[in-house]
Amino acid sequence: MPSHARKPRAGPSPLTVDVLSGILDTMSTSIANTRTTSEPVVVATNLRKRFGDVEAVNDLSFLVNAGQIVGLLGPNGAGKTTTINMLTTLASIDGGSAAVGGFDVKTQPDQVRELVGLAGQSAAVDEKLTARENLDLFGRLYKIPRAERRQRTDELIAQFDMVEFADRVVGTYSGGQRRRLDVAAALVANPTALFLDEPTTGLDPRSRAELWSEIAELADRGTAIVLTTQYLDEADQLADEILIIDRGQIIASGPPKELKRGLQRDVLEVHVAAGDLDRAVGLVGEVDGLAYDADAGSIGIPVGDDVDRSLELLRRLQDRGISISDFQLRRPTLDDVFLSLTGAPTEREEVST
Ligand SMILES: Nc1ncnc2c1ncn2[C@@H]1O[C@H](COP(=O)(O)OP(=O)(O)OP(=O)(O)O)[C@@H](O)[C@H]1O
Ligand SMILES: [Mg+2]
Repeated sequence: MPSHARKPRAGPSPLTVDVLSGILDTMSTSIANTRTTSEPVVVATNLRKRFGDVEAVNDLSFLVNAGQIVGLLGPNGAGKTTTINMLTTLASIDGGSAAVGGFDVKTQPDQVRELVGLAGQSAAVDEKLTARENLDLFGRLYKIPRAERRQRTDELIAQFDMVEFADRVVGTYSGGQRRRLDVAAALVANPTALFLDEPTTGLDPRSRAELWSEIAELADRGTAIVLTTQYLDEADQLADEILIIDRGQIIASGPPKELKRGLQRDVLEVHVAAGDLDRAVGLVGEVDGLAYDADAGSIGIPVGDDVDRSLELLRRLQDRGISISDFQLRRPTLDDVFLSLTGAPTEREEVST
């Protein structure tokens, strides 16, 4: 089992109107400025944000419990960063409400800021300072006493493997080194709720896996985490619950396993000699969603998750003298997920049989 695999834990409560109204009742009876700990750490209720004509976030509701990782997945412009910005007080909330640690994001932003850590999409660190100086500066912003600040900075530099470059100015860092500092900076004040906006974009596979372990460990220690990503495998590895967002709305949600179960869209891609293409298509027979590319001499056959069916199809083609030059089983990609959910047409030529 990879070291970053999540330990099973109690699942999230399903987000129903009853659950939400229960939470809202609890919140309205809690005394202003006191923190109630029985509720989820992050509560977003019918969040809205509009930029001119663009409904960047349109009626978004979700919960994040302590120790839970919720992954926001969505194409560019879906509203992920805007959602995170509203929850961390960086952007105003146009409609709906949000709370972090029992504090209302709109009316108690100072208390919320003390509880959240954010590694944003655009870095918050200062290019002219070193990693050590940046981490110290964040500690000062959070009013952490000097000795404790030093200790925390050393810890984070070791934890995120930054010893080699920690005393060089950030302007000289590689993309991956900067990303590690961004995440470390979000952790200076041991946040109750951690928001990571595309934390591993630009990281090499090893750094990515290392960051995954760190994130999983933070959750295991009780941090509530919201992360956005473009990578299905990242959400798959880390998230207890995935929200797929498109045009500011949740279009699907659930634990990764459940979402994938609904997306058994493996495609067997077979490459044959150009002259054999028509005959090969005929031999495959009627299959929903069958597609071919005459120029590339390839046929894409949706096979679900049935390995035997793929083998049987390959054997059938070979037995009838079709020369197969290459084949691969294509697992569903994030693109496939969006295509199947939004029904947007593919660029491939669909063959109606
Ligand atoms: N300050 C702004 N002014 C105007 N429009 C904005 C602003 N910020 C975001 N938008 C628009 O709101 C929509 C959502 O943007 P957002 O940055 O939240 O998307 P995202 O899901 O984070 O995308 P990406 O994957 O590219 O980071 C987009 O259409 C974007 O152009
Ligand atoms: Mg974004």
